[in-house]
Amino acid sequence: VDIETFARRIPKIELHLHLEGAVRPGTFVELARKNGIELPPHGDISELYRYDNLPDFLKIYDLVSRSIRDSSDFHRITYEMLESCADSGARHVEFFFSPHAHQAHGVAYTIMLAGIFNAMDDIETDRGLTSRLIPAHSRELGLERGFAFLDLVQEHRTDKVIGIGLDYNEAPFPPAPYQPLFERAATLGLHRTAHAGESGPAENVRDSLAILGVERIDHGYHVVDDEDLVAACREQGVFFTCCPSTTEATTIWRDLAAPDHAMRQMIEAGLNVTINSDDPPMFGTDLGKEYALVATKMGFGADVLKNCALNSIRASWLDEGTKATLL
Ligand code: ADE
Ligand code: ZN
Repeated sequence: VDIETFARRIPKIELHLHLEGAVRPGTFVELARKNGIELPPHGDISELYRYDNLPDFLKIYDLVSRSIRDSSDFHRITYEMLESCADSGARHVEFFFSPHAHQAHGVAYTIMLAGIFNAMDDIETDRGLTSRLIPAHSRELGLERGFAFLDLVQEHRTDKVIGIGLDYNEAPFPPAPYQPLFERAATLGLHRTAHAGESGPAENVRDSLAILGVERIDHGYHVVDDEDLVAACREQGVFFTCCPSTTEATTIWRDLAAPDHAMRQMIEAGLNVTINSDDPPMFGTDLGKEYALVATKMGFGADVLKNCALNSIRASWLDEGTKATLL
């Protein structure tokens, strides 16, 4: 088979995808109309998803979030997102969502969960795809709101809720202040991950591991700026959830084909890289395409795609028995 077909078919786990960033443009327009949200001026609807840095992207992400109101809306976007993952060869999905982006306009956490949980059940019935939810705290909101977030997560926790994340604008908001929040999450038996080294320095990768105690690093690209840290991450087997198309939209590595692209350096340094889609329709992609890009644009072979897919299974928070059946 050709490499694109191979990329789509190889069994894999999606570990880094934001629910609100996975809303199809047509769905966004329909939900905005239904819920009376005014869209920015645009020609073709694809123009709504245009930005070339992280803060500008996050503004549209917030607008998409505002267009999602009731449980049926949450059901629809979750089902459509998981359907795309199934079409991309995903066997399991661990996905983020942003409670604060909906609370900001009066949507109750239980309304969000009702739609999301039902869609997770429905796709498992329809396509055999399992999934788990990772509520994420926006690092822009501070520690106190972080504790309120964690209280809510814990209060409404079921076995579908597997851990917490830390996301949004990294450069001005380093990880260290969130140490008490991550310590409490660990005490509660929740898994922990954080965005680091996307628009912030290598130090954020080091501090997320050493101070927050995260089990995965989301993105992590700037790790390549610190040779000693690369060596330590290789020795410790740290898993990185990389997102090829995101690098071209939000980071300083704008060309996947470039010889010094961070993901190339990470793979060549023997780090445990996984391939993920982050905000797939918002970056014009899906999980299968992200795997294909590592071959077609970056020039890596089927062996590298396979190793990244195996890493995604090892890096997941499935129980060891289930992982063994997938490896
Ligand atoms: N939320 C959605 N996508 C994100 C990204 N790439 N970085 C930070 N926060 C995000
Ligand atoms: Zn992300």
